[in-house]
Amino acid sequence: MEENLLQIKNDALSLIFETEDPKSLEELKLQFLGRSGRLTLAFKEIAGLPLEKRAEIGKLGNEIKKVIEDAIADRAMELKKSAQKKQKNNLDITNPGIKPPLGHLHLVTQAIEEITSIFEKIGITRVRYPEVEWDYYAFTALNFPANHPARDDWETFFTTDNTDSKKGQIVLTPHTSNGQVREMEKAVEESKKTKMPINIRMLNIAKCYRRQSDVSHTQMFHQFEGLVVGKNISISHLKGVLEYFVKSYFGEKREFRIRPYHFQFTEPSFEIDVTCGVCLGKGCKLCKAGWLEMGGAGMVHPNVLNYGKIDPTIYTGFAFGWGVERVLMMKEGIEIDDLRLLYSNKLEFLEQF
Ligand code: PHE
Repeated sequence: MEENLLQIKNDALSLIFETEDPKSLEELKLQFLGRSGRLTLAFKEIAGLPLEKRAEIGKLGNEIKKVIEDAIADRAMELKKSAQKKQKNNLDITNPGIKPPLGHLHLVTQAIEEITSIFEKIGITRVRYPEVEWDYYAFTALNFPANHPARDDWETFFTTDNTDSKKGQIVLTPHTSNGQVREMEKAVEESKKTKMPINIRMLNIAKCYRRQSDVSHTQMFHQFEGLVVGKNISISHLKGVLEYFVKSYFGEKREFRIRPYHFQFTEPSFEIDVTCGVCLGKGCKLCKAGWLEMGGAGMVHPNVLNYGKIDPTIYTGFAFGWGVERVLMMKEGIEIDDLRLLYSNKLEFLEQF
């Protein structure tokens, strides 16, 4: 019995030291210590020995078991270390490196940059005006009579602050048209200094706020407002700029149309539609008979020029105000079925773009 145990130990140890891979080491473990392993079977025999022998041989059996277990653990460690070493020595610097995950600008920021660069090319450059504003610049100076219900159309957030008795309450800008009269005031000052005629080429991109939230509206959104004022500026100029923008931003295949409309601050006023990017004007479930509404435009109302201290008998101008998120949604290949996703901070959504 004793000899048998010693034989098992010798066999086990020599096999363990000879193994070269973790898998066969695992097999050896089973072969000796597993349920029907050699040592396990020997233990069963020990149980049948006479009592006085049983204790002594049992002790030896346990010692051998411990020796085999330790030898397996040591060998496993050695094999692991040498595998690691091999891997290091095999370093191949021509392998492609590990790419760290790269982020990108938010979809709306990308759109703002693209829109800015399109207009820059025709000399209409970006300015910034406050995103909280006096009622005066947001409404009054845009020809909204006091208490006129047209103020309601903009679903404005009014604050209770009234820091200027003439300029009225402070609102969160409901549209970027607040930049129009501010820009006119700046241009008049400049023209006084330079003695040059008034020449406005403004692109005002800013956050706007309205009480609205559904699949195509968020309470905070962005608009880009164009304002061009000079001598002999006409609807043809507006049409030219519109065509240039539609073709540059949406592509050559897209067409636009100008529809009569009403705004307090332009006369005549229009709404602009662009052919749907999915059906290209044929009509589909996404659009109204082939057309998607892009936003408002028109010739600057003489009263607004007067508010800006510009003589409407000498100067004329056009203005337009379109939604950044809206034009983005109208782009081909971008199918966002809920605008609120843009501001949900969900990486699964944002990483797609
Ligand atoms: N401010 C208008 C809006 O928010 C758009 C507009 C801008 C219309 C300029 C005409 C001229 O709907």
